[in-house]
Amino acid sequence: MKDFKKNILITGGAGFIGSHLVRLLVNKYPEYRIINFDALTYAGNLENLRDIENASNYEFVKGNICSVSDIENVFKNFNIDSIIHLAAESHVDRSIENPNIFVETNIIGTVNLLNSCIKNWEAPFSSNLFYHISTDEVYGSLGDTGFFTEETSYDPKSPYSASKAASNHFVRAFSNTYKLPTKISNCSNNYGPNQFPEKLIPLCINNIKNNKPLPIYGEGLNIRDWLYVVDHAEAIDKIFHTGTLNSTYNIGGLNEWTNIALVMELCAVMDSKLGRAPGTSAKLITYVEDRKGHDMRYAIDADKLTRELKWAPKETFETGIRSTVNWYLENESWLGAVVSGSYQDYHQKMY
Ligand code: NAD
Ligand code: TYD
Repeated sequence: MKDFKKNILITGGAGFIGSHLVRLLVNKYPEYRIINFDALTYAGNLENLRDIENASNYEFVKGNICSVSDIENVFKNFNIDSIIHLAAESHVDRSIENPNIFVETNIIGTVNLLNSCIKNWEAPFSSNLFYHISTDEVYGSLGDTGFFTEETSYDPKSPYSASKAASNHFVRAFSNTYKLPTKISNCSNNYGPNQFPEKLIPLCINNIKNNKPLPIYGEGLNIRDWLYVVDHAEAIDKIFHTGTLNSTYNIGGLNEWTNIALVMELCAVMDSKLGRAPGTSAKLITYVEDRKGHDMRYAIDADKLTRELKWAPKETFETGIRSTVNWYLENESWLGAVVSGSYQDYHQKMY
């Protein structure tokens, strides 16, 4: 069997960001073995990885981070030396409906992984790394001015962000207590191909296509900082290889939009792509009841990452949103299968 330079476990690799990261690493580093460990919840979709599923340095393992035996088996079977941990429940609205699954997956699942690192790897862990993928939402909500830096205190306000903040604390605690080498990055809102259409941008693309209402929570004045998903994957690659051990990096796009301005822009791009008269899709905008405890503004200061690791996003919002719209329009079968739920038939047949 080929001897790989690294055996990297990527949790949540069948999800939105995870699948872009898996593709990037599989193609860029043939000397690494990439093991995608994913429970294939509603958010996991192996269609996302069809193009690389037969690569000789790629393995898929169906497994749950809430199961200690699933984790122990993958450590033993693949001689794991590094982990990039993305598996999570990721949708704020679902966390408001059912916080417990967020506690189980995001907190207990993360602690299970950390425990297995300590158990299976040998101190001083010189060839090991636990890299935790987190969110800007742990920092809470901003007013009109200011940015989240790596020093901003955690102040999570939704069950989702509370569960992610708790998991970040555990990663830092394992780094301090057991000297486990760790890294954490906190990224702003991602968009791009393969995002599950419960999140704002793919939901609106799908609804515009089908002439359905575009639900805007509250007055639509909440602000998010949007980053193209491949730019996030490239930042993770940089931080994994050259980021300082036991430290945190913020990742963001310096690209703030109110939700209403973003959806108006999306409507304009879709009108032009679908050959509709300007203003047609915007008529679908429908103001609905606000999200409970809706965070007002997120904005990331990514200066540390830019300065130390020379990272900068490659996509502007203009190019990124156009290629995202093109992707959804050209991949109707992906979107149709996700909306109808038939993407899970393949999982049931295979795993
Ligand atoms: P996603 O919901 O698209 O994918 C999550 C993946 O994790 C899915 O493939 C799912 O099957 C898997 N998973 C869920 N529970 C699991 C479990 N118990 N065991 C194993 N696998 C499990 O999420 P995403 O948007 O790709 O986010 C990935 C990570 O990035 C998350 O940790 C999220 O908090 C973080 N993040 C997301 C964003 C964003 O805008 N989407 C921004 C910053 C950080
Ligand atoms: P979302 O994509 O769920 O990401 P997050 O909550 O992690 O930021 O939502 C982005 C913004 O869009 C957020 O302010 C909530 C808002 N939103 C709507 O107005 N309507 C919707 O249907 C959804 C899903 C979100």
